[in-house]
Amino acid sequence: MTAQVSEFAMFRRRLLQNPRQISAIAPSSRELANAMAAGIGPHTGPMVEFGPGTGRITRAILETGLPPDRLTLFELDRELAAHLGATLPPAVTIHQQPAQTAPDLMRASMPKGAAAVISGLPLLSMPNAVRHEIVMAAFKLLAPGAPLVQFTYGPRPPLPADLIAELDLRVEKGARVLRNLPPARVYRFYRRTP
Ligand SMILES: C[S@@+](CC[C@H](N)C(=O)[O-])C[C@H]1O[C@@H](n2cnc3c(N)ncnc32)[C@H](O)[C@@H]1O
Repeated sequence: MTAQVSEFAMFRRRLLQNPRQISAIAPSSRELANAMAAGIGPHTGPMVEFGPGTGRITRAILETGLPPDRLTLFELDRELAAHLGATLPPAVTIHQQPAQTAPDLMRASMPKGAAAVISGLPLLSMPNAVRHEIVMAAFKLLAPGAPLVQFTYGPRPPLPADLIAELDLRVEKGARVLRNLPPARVYRFYRRTP
């Protein structure tokens, strides 16, 4: 409980320092984290998480039994990245780098592509060009048929319609999680054509 309180305090501190980058009033609840990690297990291939923050979703991913050496994180905030390094199993790879750089940093180490990209990024509040770069980065990393998983607090999918059309994405509506501040819904995006 104390660890949760201090993580919450850290999250709020980083939010006050950098509201546009954090762009959420609280870390994801355990229920939302579990919904984001649904379908992952000990035999899932390499996974990438964008914007892990204090690591709520990261821990839910690891609790599925995914070996820690199959998980790579991209977290831009220095304090949050340091916290992740201090609290997660050492085999998890942590880049304190923008998600946009993931393909350049990872493609050689993941020749068959990622089994999923799990994103806690505030995609809808980002400028168009940045969001486009991040979504392109995710699909460059993903194995054919593998999903980009993203939650949103709003009533619409967390990617704009023009981007969904441009990339020819199939949109799958996942779980709605009421026990989260605010309530959220999980979406999965699949590319129809590579
Ligand atoms: C809304 S918080 C989500 C934190 C966590 N995933 C959760 O659900 O509790 C967004 C996180 O994305 C990080 N972030 C924002 N833009 C980023 C980028 N371009 N690359 C990597 N991380 C980024 C922020 O620093 C922050 O930790």
